[in-house]
Amino acid sequence: MIATRRDALKLAGLAGLGAGLPRGLFAAEEIPELAAQVARLQLLPDSYPQTEVWGYGGTIPGREIRLGQGQRLRRRFVNDLPQASSIHWHGIRIDNAMDGVSGLTQDAVAPGGTFDYDFVTPDAGTYWYHAHNRSWEQVARGLHGPLIVDEAEAPDVDREEVLILDDWLLNPETGQIDDSFDHPMMMSHGGRTGNYVTTNGRYNLSLPVRRHERLRLRLINASNARIFPLRLSRLEGWIVALDGMPLATPAPVEDVLVLGPAQRTDLIVDVLADEGETADLVHVGDAENFSQVVFTVSGTASQTRRAAPVALPPNPKMDRPDLAGATPLRLVMSGGAMGGMDSAILNGERMGFRELAAAGRFWAFNGVAEMTDTPLADLGLGEPVRLEIVNDTVFPHAMHLHGMHFREVSKDGALGPLRDTILVGGRETREIAFIVDNPGDWLFHCHMLGHAASGMTTWVRVT
Ligand code: C2O
Ligand code: CU
Repeated sequence: MIATRRDALKLAGLAGLGAGLPRGLFAAEEIPELAAQVARLQLLPDSYPQTEVWGYGGTIPGREIRLGQGQRLRRRFVNDLPQASSIHWHGIRIDNAMDGVSGLTQDAVAPGGTFDYDFVTPDAGTYWYHAHNRSWEQVARGLHGPLIVDEAEAPDVDREEVLILDDWLLNPETGQIDDSFDHPMMMSHGGRTGNYVTTNGRYNLSLPVRRHERLRLRLINASNARIFPLRLSRLEGWIVALDGMPLATPAPVEDVLVLGPAQRTDLIVDVLADEGETADLVHVGDAENFSQVVFTVSGTASQTRRAAPVALPPNPKMDRPDLAGATPLRLVMSGGAMGGMDSAILNGERMGFRELAAAGRFWAFNGVAEMTDTPLADLGLGEPVRLEIVNDTVFPHAMHLHGMHFREVSKDGALGPLRDTILVGGRETREIAFIVDNPGDWLFHCHMLGHAASGMTTWVRVT
């Protein structure tokens, strides 16, 4: 057991001593704490042993954080883990100093240490927070939770559910998390995918609903590398937001909905199933489909169907980039198994693939297999940018930009919806564009977290 700051306070008999002392002296203590802790939970079915996890507040998923649009979020991160850590607030257009990237925007917080996060949430929507130090290990151990920013005016739904989709790589005998986080096989292929799929930490999440009930579902993919292909059964649904940002027009869900690592999709769904039936969020499997979430119907919310939902209120305006005048950037992703990358730069030197692999590097961005002191681009505030992403590997990659949202540029030059993470298929080329509107140093990396750790991380500087 490691001694924590709070244990030390208790030992010294100091906890709660703030009362009676001049105000201001202990003012900092009023920040609510968010502790990352080791916990044992019944993740597997009851007949299996408990699993040791790392969780915020000791739970899986981490404690939900919810606040209103434009409000200030303050949390004192308390690191009760045996490893240094930091918290990244994924998708928030945040003050750079609060972005939580250890090694770039802050030092990792040592075991027993604390860090005060304090920022404003300008946009309503579905976000999440997760560890950003050794994230390929720490997120896999459970360090993630939902961050929900409520619209000033709530949409017309009966209720909402936050659904965190995840997978775990567990030893079926011991029930413990497989700790081969750095295994070359995981790094060099699709990433660490688990053998146990959960929603909100449950393999069989079942939620009671009523016929014709209208729900808002906030889907968050918190897995290290799994792409979730999902389908609605006995539910009629509309996509109303992607990566937190409302769509101008709700888009009916007609087919399979793909949720890449770190991506979010907000759905409004109407329950069509009858009393005694189930409606399902179906995980479309390679061999077999299974139910990611079961909605069991009892009772009726209304006799008739409602009209299609209206769009969520828009977030503060983000200007569309003028493509003709935009600064062109290019990112070529290479490497991985069957990728044919024969060399790349590491520690400033050109190395062959085998040497790179021995150093735990399997991927490169523009021929460089490490995060260097030189950013991918030095950008000016207000500058429009278009970035071509060339995936010269056989694997898909979920590319995430910190601090800003972007739009995809389609082949005909049209701009898609705002996103913070784009899933780029194997051997695919995609293009994104945005106006650089947030100063600071911002990471741009693959959210298959093992990939980020083994070569797929770069950054942009905005001044
Ligand atoms: Cu969700 Cu750099 O991370
Ligand atoms: Cu990747």
